[in-house]
Amino acid sequence: MVMGKGIFITLEGIDFSGKSTQARYLVNFLKRNNVQHLFLREPGGTVLSERIRRILLSKGEIDICAKSELWLYLAARSQIVEEKIAPALKQGKIVVCDRFYDSTTAYQSYGRGLDLDFVLKANLFAADNLKPDLTLLFDLPEKKAFERKQRLNRTKDRLENEKLAFFRKIRKGYLHLAENNKRRIKVINADGPKEKVRDEMLEITVSFLKRHRIRIRM
Ligand SMILES: Nc1ncnc2c1ncn2[C@@H]1O[C@H](COP(=O)(O)OP(=O)(O)OP(=O)(O)O)[C@@H](O)[C@H]1O
Ligand SMILES: [Mg+2]
Repeated sequence: MVMGKGIFITLEGIDFSGKSTQARYLVNFLKRNNVQHLFLREPGGTVLSERIRRILLSKGEIDICAKSELWLYLAARSQIVEEKIAPALKQGKIVVCDRFYDSTTAYQSYGRGLDLDFVLKANLFAADNLKPDLTLLFDLPEKKAFERKQRLNRTKDRLENEKLAFFRKIRKGYLHLAENNKRRIKVINADGPKEKVRDEMLEITVSFLKRHRIRIRM
């Protein structure tokens, strides 16, 4: 690995596609292999970003229009990039982030209809032009995601209350993004047992790291 240049890996996908589950597997894998890493989730990861997260999740109680929502996500992201992600990458760490700017593109543009070119530019501006090296996209039909949600029946924030059609749009948005960023975004079939999804993710990640001269055995 080149000194001062870590690797930035993001996990993406619609609600309940299994990002956080797979992020835990990935982080455990890095730990077991003594790889220097930092695990973060978005929005969050700094004092400011966690406060913004709380505002975003209280959307059922307070009105947040689509544009306000965009700025809040971007504000949370600017802070985590500046405070956490950029410094860790400088130290040569592997940074794993549960959601990053592709979420904003998928939800705020493909989902809520904000101008795509503008959102893409705003994403780069907010992230100080920092791009993920590898994005793992967990692709799951929205109906399957809803089945998981119903099975779990956990407390619902407003995002999770949106209708199937909304998630269909977001899923399609993610797949468009993957189509336009083939080198960076790897689509993983998330419709299967957790361990099967994990194995596909680790295979993709290990071969990516190998190309960057980081050798880990599976
Ligand atoms: N492959 C899988 N098969 C069945 N259930 C799964 C699978 N992966 C995760 N789950 C379950 O689905 C639920 C959602 O998983 P998880 O929290 O990892 O998704 P997420 O993408 O992080 O969701 P969110 O966007 O809401 O944070 C959890 O109850 C989890 O145990
Ligand atoms: Mg999650």
